Amino acid sequence: MKLESKLPEVGITIFTIMSKLAADTGAVNLSQGFPDFDVDPRLIELVNAHMTAGRNQYAPMQGVESLRHGLAAKTEKLYGAVVDPDTQITVTSGATEALYSAITALVHPGQEVMVIEPAFDSYVPAILLNQGIPVFSRLTWPDYRIDWDQVLDMTGPQTRAVIINSPHNPTGTVLDSQDIEALKLLVARNDLFIISDEVYEHIIFDDLAHHSMLRYPELAERSMVISSFGKTYHTTGWKIGYCIAPPQLTKEFQKVHQFLTFASNTPIQYAYADILQKPELYLELGSFYQRKRDLFLELVAPSRFKPLPCRGTYFIMLDYSEITSEPDTDFARRMTRQYGVAAIPPSVFYHDGTDNRVLRFCFAKKDQTLKEAAAKLCKI
Ligand SMILES: Cc1ncc(COP(=O)(O)O)c(C=O)c1O
Repeated sequence: MKLESKLPEVGITIFTIMSKLAADTGAVNLSQGFPDFDVDPRLIELVNAHMTAGRNQYAPMQGVESLRHGLAAKTEKLYGAVVDPDTQITVTSGATEALYSAITALVHPGQEVMVIEPAFDSYVPAILLNQGIPVFSRLTWPDYRIDWDQVLDMTGPQTRAVIINSPHNPTGTVLDSQDIEALKLLVARNDLFIISDEVYEHIIFDDLAHHSMLRYPELAERSMVISSFGKTYHTTGWKIGYCIAPPQLTKEFQKVHQFLTFASNTPIQYAYADILQKPELYLELGSFYQRKRDLFLELVAPSRFKPLPCRGTYFIMLDYSEITSEPDTDFARRMTRQYGVAAIPPSVFYHDGTDNRVLRFCFAKKDQTLKEAAAKLCKI
């Protein structure tokens, strides 16, 4: 039998490769984006309590009611947007599922989707599996801003959607009010949808505001806004996310979601609904990670790495051009084996392998881990 791959270019993700190399070599793993500290024990107790109380069967397709109501209240409080929990919110199995469902619901064969690179690695395979055509614009270097003139030039009636991600993985940049004005102009010129990946919405620094699409009615009316509990509650392994969109878009989104996963983990949804009642947990997340960013910056200051600005997410880019001119994929591997620190080479986030001689480091780690990693980086 001849097996024709639907994704011939796709291999094992760099996250799996680098995490395995870190494990095999005993290196400090600052590559994949997950915390090495534990979940709030209250959340574990809540999941246990809901399991013990018998909430173990299928959740409703769109998510448990109390969680959707909690999300609607939070959205109104944070972004001033009134969303109907019954017709505008869908709970998913991680943001990854939400992204796939959004792209599948919107993109017809042959339609273009604007992807701004470097881009999270699930976007393009999802577009390709739907026979859409990814069209790439590159963030400017070295300040990693969206080149709106280029985006405007490259979009037109053929463009079905643009994928926006702020705070941005892997660069740590965030949208500002000028970006929002440019985005308004883009949608005024082109009748396109916005898929807005806001999984790091609470991890934003230096008193900056998160410009959610939900704040702006003319953007929200054509947006599928996606977020993830995994980033907010240090529970990346629990894989619960959600999508907020206008009713018409939610209807199409749910047509895909109900046949992709149907519903997501029931007791965990109930536990998140309970913990949402403690807003301080997500409101303090920015300062929690800002302290880790600043600690890491201080620790690597004596090294030959040059940090790029990081205004959100738990990733920071370090420029290594003073150390070597090796390609980032080679240097990432050598650094892991020889110096004992694993990081992600960002060239993998570009379709053409753009390589600016920087590496992405995850600082969602215990202070001790960051100290250990930085001591090794200072020896390079
Ligand atoms: C930008 C971005 N979007 C989506 C995801 C996926 O989130 P989840 O783990 O909830 O599927 C991640 C996870 O790293 C991410 O960094």
